[in-house]
Amino acid sequence: MTTITFFRLSFLLLFLSHAFSDLCNPQDKKVLLQIKKDLNNPYLLASWDPNTDCCDWYTINCDPKTHRINSLTIFSSTPDTNFSAQIPPSVGLLPYLETLEFHKLPKLTGPLPPAITKLTHLKFLRISWTNLSGPVPAFLSELTNLTFLDLSFNNLTGSIPGSLGNLENLDAIHLDRNHLTGSIPPSFGSFKSNPDIYLSHNNLSGTIPTSFKNLNSTVIDLSRNKLVGDASPVFGSALQRVDLSRNQFSFDLSKVEFAPSLTSLDLNHNKVYGNIPQVLTTLDLQFLNVSYNRLCGQIPVGGKLQNFDVYEYFHNKCLCGSPLPSCKN
Ligand SMILES: *[C@@H]1O[C@H](CO)[C@@H](O)[C@H](O)[C@H]1NC(C)=O
Ligand SMILES: *[C@@H]1O[C@H](CO)[C@@H](O)[C@H](O)[C@H]1NC(C)=O
Ligand SMILES: *[C@@H]1O[C@H](CO)[C@@H](O)[C@H](O)[C@H]1NC(C)=O
Ligand SMILES: *[C@@H]1O[C@H](CO)[C@@H](O)[C@H](O)[C@H]1NC(C)=O
Ligand SMILES: *[C@@H]1O[C@H](CO)[C@@H](O)[C@H](O)[C@H]1NC(C)=O
Ligand SMILES: *[C@@H]1O[C@H](CO)[C@@H](O)[C@H](O)[C@H]1NC(C)=O
Ligand SMILES: *[C@@H]1O[C@H](CO)[C@@H](O)[C@H](O)[C@H]1NC(C)=O
Repeated sequence: MTTITFFRLSFLLLFLSHAFSDLCNPQDKKVLLQIKKDLNNPYLLASWDPNTDCCDWYTINCDPKTHRINSLTIFSSTPDTNFSAQIPPSVGLLPYLETLEFHKLPKLTGPLPPAITKLTHLKFLRISWTNLSGPVPAFLSELTNLTFLDLSFNNLTGSIPGSLGNLENLDAIHLDRNHLTGSIPPSFGSFKSNPDIYLSHNNLSGTIPTSFKNLNSTVIDLSRNKLVGDASPVFGSALQRVDLSRNQFSFDLSKVEFAPSLTSLDLNHNKVYGNIPQVLTTLDLQFLNVSYNRLCGQIPVGGKLQNFDVYEYFHNKCLCGSPLPSCKN
């Protein structure tokens, strides 16, 4: 074999091995390059080079067997203000996507495109710390495989669509830190999978639907809204952490049935009345804040109740006893 032939042969082999090492599905690759274009060629996607295997690109994951794209996670560790775009409908053309994330992109604006409902395998959807606007779309209920839905820290407005209650596999739903209005849909009390529910820092009003008493969620955060009335339906049998602070809830604390699993209870800044019930001394409370309410009577002695500060009890109607000043008879 001459040296020339040897080099030709090696070159051919190198070429072939390169061509065959491209595991990425050609259709997926085409779609990804379209998405990159639709996102205005952001620096964050600089690794999306058409001459390389898209399964090797940052922010992408391929299924190890089928090599179809199953994950697209575009995020920046610090807010990336260069990234200026809307979520393109082309993301709906990655049919095997299970994970989709856009995170810490303050100039990602506009609504969530309906094309996202084509992603029937989607399990994890996080679009947070962006400037997504418009309503929380009712069509998200079509994504019945979702286990995790996070649209927190956005610019979403309007009311929460009741259809989301149809998402039977949710482990957690985060709609906190938007500008949502209206009331909490009664369908949220019929989530079959008892998801953790985060709706804090919105402008939600009305009462908590009584259907919540069927729910066995472990975390419920409704803080910083304009909710009124009786909050006792949220105290389900599996509850561990509940934050109802900074609303206008008005109910008798002594009538609430607390789950033995409760470790964190934040009620500060409401209109809660009655006594602090003795049963709270039997709980392994790591956090308690009942300040700025209308509670009365002696703080029961025992359990963790004296581990908390004056600031977790102060500004009530006539609450007394350690750590507050002792009760006058
Ligand atoms: C944003 O763009 C500016 C100017 O083009 C550049 O200097 C900077 O490195 C970019 N930042 C990021 C995070 O890409
Ligand atoms: C949304 O945009 C506003 C105005 O540009 C900005 O102040 C805010 O930080 C952005 N929101 C997020 C979550 O990045
Ligand atoms: C949910 O995912 C499974 C398996 O990934 C798939 O067979 C099923 O069709 C998906 N559900 C829907 C509504 O597409
Ligand atoms: C936030 O939403 C409001 C009302 O929809 C809109 O006027 C505003 O431009 C949005 N802000 C950003 C930064 O997209
Ligand atoms: C709630 O509504 C008030 C009054 O309309 C407004 O000033 C405030 O910014 C809103 N808060 C949120 C989180 O949207
Ligand atoms: C909640 O727990 C109770 C008692 O453990 C049970 O009877 C009920 O079916 C559960 N509900 C849901 C939606 O899981
Ligand atoms: C409890 O709430 C009050 C009133 O908002 C606040 O001053 C205090 O720091 C809170 N305590 C804790 C431990 O968060």
